[in-house]
Order: sequence, then structure tokens, then C-alpha cells
Amino acid sequence: MPYYRSVGEIPAKRHVQFRQPDGSLYAEELMGEEGFSFDSALLYHKHIPTGLRAIEAVEAEDQGTTPNHPLTPRHFKSHQLKAGGDVVRARALLMTNEDCAISYFVGSDDSELYKNATGDEMVFIEQGTGTLETVFGAISFEPGDYLVIPASVIHRYVLDDSSEKVRALVLETRGHIGPPKRYLSRNGQLLEHAPYCERDLHGPAAPLNREGSNVEVLVKHKGGMTRFIYEHHPFDVVGWDGCLYPYKFSIHDFEPITGRIHQPPPVHQTFEAPGVVVCSFVPRLFDYHPEAIPAPYNHANVDSDEVLFYVEGNFMSRKGSGIERGSLSLHPAGHTHGPQPGSVEASIGKERTEELAVMIDTFKPLDLGPGARDCEDDGYAWTWLEGR
Ligand SMILES: [Fe+2]
Repeated sequence: MPYYRSVGEIPAKRHVQFRQPDGSLYAEELMGEEGFSFDSALLYHKHIPTGLRAIEAVEAEDQGTTPNHPLTPRHFKSHQLKAGGDVVRARALLMTNEDCAISYFVGSDDSELYKNATGDEMVFIEQGTGTLETVFGAISFEPGDYLVIPASVIHRYVLDDSSEKVRALVLETRGHIGPPKRYLSRNGQLLEHAPYCERDLHGPAAPLNREGSNVEVLVKHKGGMTRFIYEHHPFDVVGWDGCLYPYKFSIHDFEPITGRIHQPPPVHQTFEAPGVVVCSFVPRLFDYHPEAIPAPYNHANVDSDEVLFYVEGNFMSRKGSGIERGSLSLHPAGHTHGPQPGSVEASIGKERTEELAVMIDTFKPLDLGPGARDCEDDGYAWTWLEGR
């Protein structure tokens, strides 16, 4: 999506001779979306990026999913999930539908080289620090960062030695993730009313220019997982340019939009993808009408399943619900939800909130994965009862 960047060495014109110091040609690769009709980048490799020495099928664990039946609002405590492994192989599937998969990861291993050929990935870092190494270059990450990795970008996670375990919420989409279209000009610039701008998006600053042979890359695709063994290291890029590349955006750079009375969730929207929206709830002033009610109203959002990931803060509207740091609530279509009893009155007069949360709304119902079943708090559905 984002905007044009040029990194490292590239020739003055595309598709012309560009030679290495030894006189041989660099290998040009066009990486583009939607069949040459959407964002793309041109990368220049020292070696051809297509040489495969071997192809291996990789056994993947069965991710048996079940419908949310009987229809139930649910609460998952991600901090109860077992730690271990790396963010690519050990993410626990929580919820999924035809458009996306939502997983949670806690662990401390570096990952192998990987690309997701089924769609984009957005990884929200709840805890831990490290570097996302990609064919475009490296991006450091810390808590609060959204890492957006376009489909088929080869990458790996390298954690800092000093880092605590990394905790991350992972969203895989079948389409491409970008800013909400209403915040973009006809030419794709972020408009003045957007809650962030290009300066807040950080792509790789330099190519990795790495050498190597017989390099393994794990590929997620419709049929499962495959391992490609490439003749040359895919990170042998000396330069690239274009509008398609991985980037990070910190939730702490999201500028909240506030009002005299309660603002609807779309003001928190940060990204969109086909069938999915992502919103950021950040520390902000509450509504300032003299009779404002800061707590949200009850709402029947009839076309969405709503997943809220609680990162930090006291989650004012969820008093008595058992929600804590790392909790995820699922409020499915067909269930009217809102603040827990007493929260509305208690919110009156409050001037600000320090909450930090990420919301993922899907337009198709979500099924439950094994990760969700492993950390569900069964009593959540009854927490709106006034007579509890
Ligand atoms: Fe809601």
C-alpha cells in the first residue's frame, strides 16, 4: 500500500541493464499485487531469485476448527496459553473464517525464513523486542508495533537477546491490508483527517545484501506448508523501489479522534482488508459534553463478529467481566453487547482513559480454533446479568 520508497542501489530507469561490479547483470524481480494492476516493487538481486534446488512437503498440525455453536459471546485468556516456539510455526489459532485467521503467539525462538502465499499478515507486538528481517531489509520492533507484511514477502523474526518472551496477536488476511480508503486521496496520500500519516509508517531503510546458498524458506499456501530450498539467499537484494513493502506502525502514533459525545468505533479504525477491519483504542480524553456518558452504548452490530484484544489499561466498560491484560473477547453477530452492569453510571465524569486495545471486526462469522478452546473463560456470557 503505503507510498513510494527507494532503498539501496537501483538503476535510473526500470527494466534496463543494471550491472554488478564484475560486469554481470543484477536480476530484476517485479513483486506486484492483483495481476500487475495494484501496488508493486522492483527488487534487484545479485543472483536470480527463482533457482530451486528442492521442494519438500511440511507436516502441519491439524487446526480443527468448530463453529461458534451454540452462538455464545466468549472470553479467551491468551496469557494462559503455553509459551514456546517461534511466531511462524507456534502461533495458536484462535478464530478464523474465509477471510482471515486470528492467532496468538508467546515464545522466544527466532523463526526460519517464511512467506505466506495466501495473503498479508499483520502482527501486533504486545511484548518483546527484535527485528523483522525481510527481502526488502530489516525493521526493528517493540511493544505496540503493528508489523504489516504483504503476501509472499520472505521474512523471519530475530528476537533480541535481552528480550522477554515475545507476545503477539497475528492476523492473516486473504486479501491485502492497508489504511481505510476513506483516509486516502485519489492518489493514495493519507488525508488530513486520518489518525496517522506517512511519517508514522516505517519501512526498511536499507537492503540486507546477504549471501548464502541452499537456503530453506517455508511457504504457507492453500494446500498447506511447503519448504523451498533456494540455490541463493533471497536476501541478496542491493536495492528496490516501489509502493509494496513491509512496514511498521506503532499504536502509540495513532492520534485518537474524540468528540463531545461518544464517537463510534470507526474513528478508531487503523487498517482494512477484504472482510476485515482493525481498530486501535488508545489513551485519550473522554467525551466532553457536560452530560456525556463516556461508556459505549449497547450495540447490535448486526453484520460483524467483533474481537477485542485488551493490551493495557483498566477496560472501564468491562468491570466484573473477568477481562484482564491479554484477554480477547468475541462478541458475535446475533448478540447485542455493551458495557457490563454498573459500568455506564460509573463512567460518568471520567475525563480520560489509559486503555490500549486492538479490535478486529470481521464481516463473516468466526469459527473457533484450538488456541481459543485452550484458554476460554467459560463464564463470560453471563457477565451482563444485573442480578449476578
Ligand atoms: Fe462492540
